[in-house]
Amino acid sequence: MKIAVVGTGYVGLVTGTCFAETGNTVHCVDIDERKVKKLQNGVITIYEPGLEALFERNIEQGRLKFTTNLAEGIKDAEIIFLALPTPPGEDGSADLKYVLNVAKDLGFLLEKYAVVVDKSTVPVGTAEKVHAKIAENAKVAFDVVSNPEFLREGVAVEDFMKPDRVVVGTSSERARKKMEQLYAPFVRQGNPIIFMDERSAEMTKYAANSFLAAKITFMNEIANLCDKVGANVDDIRRGIGSDSRIGKRFLFAGIGYGGSCFPKDVQALAKTSQDYAYDFRMLKAVMDVNADQKSKLLPKVKEYFGGDLAGKKIAVWGLSFKPYTDDIREAPALENIKALLAEGASVVAYDPEAMENVREVVGTSIAFAESPYEALEDADALMIFTEWPVFRTPDFEKMESLLNNKAIFDGRNLFEPELMEELGFVYHSIGRRA
Ligand code: UGA
Repeated sequence: MKIAVVGTGYVGLVTGTCFAETGNTVHCVDIDERKVKKLQNGVITIYEPGLEALFERNIEQGRLKFTTNLAEGIKDAEIIFLALPTPPGEDGSADLKYVLNVAKDLGFLLEKYAVVVDKSTVPVGTAEKVHAKIAENAKVAFDVVSNPEFLREGVAVEDFMKPDRVVVGTSSERARKKMEQLYAPFVRQGNPIIFMDERSAEMTKYAANSFLAAKITFMNEIANLCDKVGANVDDIRRGIGSDSRIGKRFLFAGIGYGGSCFPKDVQALAKTSQDYAYDFRMLKAVMDVNADQKSKLLPKVKEYFGGDLAGKKIAVWGLSFKPYTDDIREAPALENIKALLAEGASVVAYDPEAMENVREVVGTSIAFAESPYEALEDADALMIFTEWPVFRTPDFEKMESLLNNKAIFDGRNLFEPELMEELGFVYHSIGRRA
């Protein structure tokens, strides 16, 4: 099939590359000339494990192309994906200007029937708006379909190639057939393509992310209570997770969820509820608890140093919002670093992928280390914000010899409290007896 993908951000690039991998010819369009030049030269613009090899192969074999020209990109396309940014506006609602601008252009440009697919996470009712915008100027028949993505950063290629499910919202039989054909190679193992109307598909995406954010938040609250009653949240996780109705995943308590999706989508669903005069109380609680969760460790650090962090040197392990990504959007580490600096502490940070991105935000206000151990040199305590595997089984003897105080404040529950006690560390984590 001939496919166009408009927007070569994270979702667009993964989508375009993976569709090329199953034999489609994919033309990706972006207005950013510098980015398109790079992509045309075979230089990948995002970090995502496994993507680069697919990207290079499909460019080499002529199935994956890039352009800044929308008319050229969508020429002959049977399916046109919109993978455009929908940043939160001031009131938390998703801003549709990029999506609607492209929809308007498509109205003028479409020369034959095409299926236009909303891939971006967009509020309920957007497919109808996109349809109306294209229809203002369209001379040919077309359909607008909602096909939300459920990719996790860091495992996006795997999620795309073997999705748990594909959700397609359409009321057109013609569009449904096209989408079925396109996704057939990805659902061969029996995972379903779930068809529904456009509004339900749009809502499914928000419901999925908000549910997962709520699941994590529930565990974070259980962890906070564990701290008080003297129970261990890890045992509780195992105890409830083995009930198949609850499930084992997304039950890890920690220093709060971050990233570009959960915070934005929970907020956007809250805004939709408000627009429809529905008081979605749970969402408000999820947002409140998560905001507090990000600052759960700092008071413990302060208490350890007798209430004063001035002049203390704090080592930080982990900057990205989760492992296997350099993404630092809404990352708990950033907020904590700012708070540490405000308290007069100095910070030396290490992260396997995200240091460059953090440097752009914080400049020279903190120092960066070449390795986890270098960050510990002469530091007064260690704080951990991301569960990169490289932090999981460190050389504790070496840590002890480098750190001034044997104090670790772990926002991701990486180590067993009993072991840490045996080794003589002061060890604070989330929801487990210190
Ligand atoms: C999330 C969803 O998982 C994807 O399905 C969705 O497609 C994507 O948002 C999106 O809307 O684009 P992502 O933000 O990449 O994916 O990351 P997750 O792996 O879901 O993690 C989100 C946050 O939750 C991270 O900060 C992570 O540390 C935190 N988390 C996750 C926990 O605190 N505990 C857990 O048990 C799991």
